[in-house]
Amino acid sequence: MPESSGLITNLPARPSGPTTIVTPAGQSLSLDYFVGWGGPSVIRLATKALEIIGTDFTGRRVLDIGFGHGQMSCLFALLGAQVVAVDTHEVSLLEAVAEAKRWGVEDRIQFTVYSGDPQDIQHTDFDIAFTKSVLLLVPELEKFLHGLSTKLRSKGQVAFIENGFHNPLSVLGRRIVHFLHNNEARDYPGVSMYNWRLPVYLSPARIRTFGKVFDVQQVIKGESRHWYLIHGFKRPS
Ligand SMILES: C[S@@+](CC[C@H](N)C(=O)[O-])C[C@H]1O[C@@H](n2cnc3c(N)ncnc32)[C@H](O)[C@@H]1O
Repeated sequence: MPESSGLITNLPARPSGPTTIVTPAGQSLSLDYFVGWGGPSVIRLATKALEIIGTDFTGRRVLDIGFGHGQMSCLFALLGAQVVAVDTHEVSLLEAVAEAKRWGVEDRIQFTVYSGDPQDIQHTDFDIAFTKSVLLLVPELEKFLHGLSTKLRSKGQVAFIENGFHNPLSVLGRRIVHFLHNNEARDYPGVSMYNWRLPVYLSPARIRTFGKVFDVQQVIKGESRHWYLIHGFKRPS
């Protein structure tokens, strides 16, 4: 595990363009669509994540934590996975189910609203746990990651695409903006997603927390310093 931010690797900049991914069934999909938001940095990090964990998920079980509007859950299902998708908020559940129906993968995804504590997830033995822009909403990260680890099979993998450093002034600015928006995100009407302490962006200390729980293999910074990919394996117990 990298011990300091100095060991974080940078994803080299490349001209952006549509990123196509081919499913085991031979269907060509636009990764841009499934990544949905966050811009080229996130698409490139998602591409890198799939390079690392593979694109054929046939027979693999994926836990998508914080499914949001469901697109990434659908992508994993289209790539062959059996997906359990959990989120703490119900507001986008119907939309996520509709998304799965649109892609014909509703039988491959179980969407569940849960407490936010991975220990409460009913299933275990996942091959992969995935998040995108979720861990910034988890205050007790180490406890959360330990809980998550118990849900993975031996040698199970984690891939987290998460929001990174903002300087203290911009964090303060964001907090004020969230406060003025009643702590709601635009696409979660009526839901207080943030509070004065959340979101917690990745800092060197927070990045080190991943290494306390998982065998972190890579911490990759996107072209934008606001996005990181963290990949690791479950530790042998
Ligand atoms: C910024 S959205 C990202 C959604 C989706 N992953 C994406 O990239 O579009 C954050 C999501 O994390 C969910 N969330 C917050 N805390 C969570 C937790 N402890 N476990 C699972 N989901 C959580 C929120 O309800 C929300 O859907």
